[in-house]
Amino acid sequence: MSSRHPRGRSVTKRRGLLAALGFGLFSSQAAAQTTPFVDQGTGIQFQRFFGAKTNFGFGVALPTTPSNSFIGQLSFPLVNGAGWGGFSLTGDMEGPLLMACWADGKGGIQASFREAFNEDDDPPEVTGAFSVKPISEGTSVNNTFLTFTFLCEGCLDDSLGLGAAQTAGTAEMGWALASTAVRNPASSAGVLAFHNSGFGDFKANLGSARNAEFETWAALVGTALPPGANARAFSGNGGDSGDDDGDDDDSDDEGNFGTGGGAGGGATTGGGTGGGGQTGGGFDDGDDSNDDSDDD
Ligand code: HEM
Repeated sequence: MSSRHPRGRSVTKRRGLLAALGFGLFSSQAAAQTTPFVDQGTGIQFQRFFGAKTNFGFGVALPTTPSNSFIGQLSFPLVNGAGWGGFSLTGDMEGPLLMACWADGKGGIQASFREAFNEDDDPPEVTGAFSVKPISEGTSVNNTFLTFTFLCEGCLDDSLGLGAAQTAGTAEMGWALASTAVRNPASSAGVLAFHNSGFGDFKANLGSARNAEFETWAALVGTALPPGANARAFSGNGGDSGDDDGDDDDSDDEGNFGTGGGAGGGATTGGGTGGGGQTGGGFDDGDDSNDDSDDD
């Protein structure tokens, strides 16, 4: 299965051109970066990337001395219950650990770890020494909006793209949002289509995401979501140091990561109530492609 996404391809070229123009003409524009955000349901204090055009948000909270876990929050609009949103542990799609979530069509949320080996196919579900544990107080889904708050346990590791040592200052992370329906949404292996609503990278102020309250928040977690039966071990071989198709991919500077191992997963968590949009500021990074950080 190698479904091409012409839209993604053309965006690549346009993005490069506009980025070049952006740097030349608007060099004062700041890169997209996270800002403080407090979740009302849980009181968790995140450093959050927020896209004003899409209303996509991804927040990170860390302990004072990060080891291998963080609390994350994905929040984004749904279109009649359809769509998916996700994050990358680096600014790239190919190589690092990815996580995506969506409404399962039964009132709950599916979340699953993915690893992309190219930019053409739905990234397969993976397992490893990482798991996702929902925080129900910070989780809700309805037809128009989804908020998923979770402990990403074991997700901080050099082999996955982001290690604890890299959380002292800022780190580049990525995001993606689609409005198209996930095929087979009740499964953690649900088939994701291209992130047509937006994607990109941002600078995560992880040093500022550290908080002494972390353990209190982490105590809110439920049980880990199990991986799908066909999930494969995270390989760390997805880095596109060898470009697969000679396209003008702008992320070919990545090496591969090491190998993960162990148990992990994704599955359904019960949906809460509410939902609703959230407000916040966007940042203009001078990239006017699909990257929703331009709040013009
Ligand atoms: C069928 C599923 C998917 C397809 C076809 C797809 C395709 C693509 C393509 C073509 C690009 C490059 C666009 C450009 O450089 O202008 C890209 C970038 C990106 N994708 Fe995906 N993607 C998929 C799923 C995902 C998922 C599940 C995530 C994260 C959870 C993700 C995260 C990203 C990020 C962060 C970028 C920007 C960084 C980069 O260019 O490597 N993608 N994707």
